[in-house]
Amino acid sequence: MFQSAAKTLSVATTTAATLTRGTSFSIRRYCQKTPATLRVSEAVSGAKLGANVKVQGWVRSVRPQKANLFLHVNDGSSLQSLQVVASSELLTLGSAVEVTGTLRKSPRQRQPFELEADRIHVVGDCDPVDFPFKIKERHSLEYIRQFPHLRCRTNAFSSLLRIRSEATTAVHSYFKENGFVQIHTPVITSNDCEGAGELFQVEVKGEKFFSVPAFLTVSGQLHLEVMSGAFSRVYTFGPTFRAENSQSRRHLAEFYMVEAEVSFTQSLEDLTKVMEDMFRSATEHVLAHCAEDVDLFHKHVTPGHRVSPQGHFAIDILNQSSQKFAFPTDWGCDLQTEHEKHLVKHCGNIPVFVTDYPYDLKPFYARDNLDHPEHTAAAVDLLVPGVGELCGGSLREERLDLLKARLGEAGLEDTYSWYLDLRRFGSVPHGGFGMGFERFLQCILGVDNIKDVIAFPRFSHSCPL
Ligand code: 4AD
Repeated sequence: MFQSAAKTLSVATTTAATLTRGTSFSIRRYCQKTPATLRVSEAVSGAKLGANVKVQGWVRSVRPQKANLFLHVNDGSSLQSLQVVASSELLTLGSAVEVTGTLRKSPRQRQPFELEADRIHVVGDCDPVDFPFKIKERHSLEYIRQFPHLRCRTNAFSSLLRIRSEATTAVHSYFKENGFVQIHTPVITSNDCEGAGELFQVEVKGEKFFSVPAFLTVSGQLHLEVMSGAFSRVYTFGPTFRAENSQSRRHLAEFYMVEAEVSFTQSLEDLTKVMEDMFRSATEHVLAHCAEDVDLFHKHVTPGHRVSPQGHFAIDILNQSSQKFAFPTDWGCDLQTEHEKHLVKHCGNIPVFVTDYPYDLKPFYARDNLDHPEHTAAAVDLLVPGVGELCGGSLREERLDLLKARLGEAGLEDTYSWYLDLRRFGSVPHGGFGMGFERFLQCILGVDNIKDVIAFPRFSHSCPL
């Protein structure tokens, strides 16, 4: 690696030196001699056909045939690898190579272009016996999960990472196009937004660093609520931490959450509209920009799974069912995964909004519907097939007297005096929601385990790498 960097540098230095001497002839000569470096995505689409080019990447497959060796080289820029034809040389799967040669039309049907190599420089070799991935084997997501430091070298996981990157862009684009201002909410905070005691405490050598106890954020909501006193549409998208038992296939100790807050709204429908629009728009974007990668998942990794951003969303409340559940479905009990799955199935396997939860189940900030005898809060969850809860949100209690009373009951009035101030100075009805980004990816790709949609998963009792 260092060796080739040094080589590239020496060419650049010579060119620069020639430039200062001002001899354009020499420059042209060097330009002609130096092959253009192409990304694999450019080479496979035939850019610089017929030209002498250089491609750098890792060998994804090796196939000896008669006098030739066929390699597939990939640099992460596309699912498709570049076929390289070389006269027989010993090369192994996984090694890093720099190939120089002529890009030409391929006589083979499956790839229109290939690189006829005249020089292959092995930048870093790879022992095929110890390397955990083998030629021609399709390794399961579970198998590759055992190698968090190497799994990005498989087709499936590199597709996932490209999709994840594109989905991140899609989320930001949606909010930008819809007039939301992005706020960087803090990672270290003294708030416990959800109040469920799932916090990671931040200390230095067992001592408080700040004058107050500090935690890794469980949600940026309260900071967004501060901003929604000056900006009518805000959002944040960042890492979020929960010290809950995350051995399940849909929980992580560190995950990414997309959160939005909308001011001047008095209806849950305003929120469900943003959730639905964002879900559709991000899904459409991913399908349009990562078609090949999504296809790989739907064909080989999660066969049979399909996602369509055009489907219907049902707006529903919890229905009683004749099905027997392990957890009670009585009014006042929280929804468990089995209930969420039942609701989604009951509505025909489409995304479902569940609204108006029992007031006592929701955190202090949820708006009281003041209804009797049920006594509900204006809260909403979006449940999706295969995953369960994807989004959770609510209208926020903007009425000072009600909020004060609830915080008073919990003995939190002093802690949240700044939050009460927001209701004292120009308070407006507002609401928002959070979407688990990994669960979104699970939903569109049909991936069963959340650890397979994040580069480096953190979960209880394990923090590999
Ligand atoms: O429902 P939650 O806890 O809502 C909040 O944190 C609100 N304060 C958000 C808001 O209104 N601004 O979390 C929101 C979403 C869940 O629906 C779920 O998709 C995801 O975050 N989530 C997790 N994802 C992975 N691992 C975990 N441990 C998660 N906990 C929540």
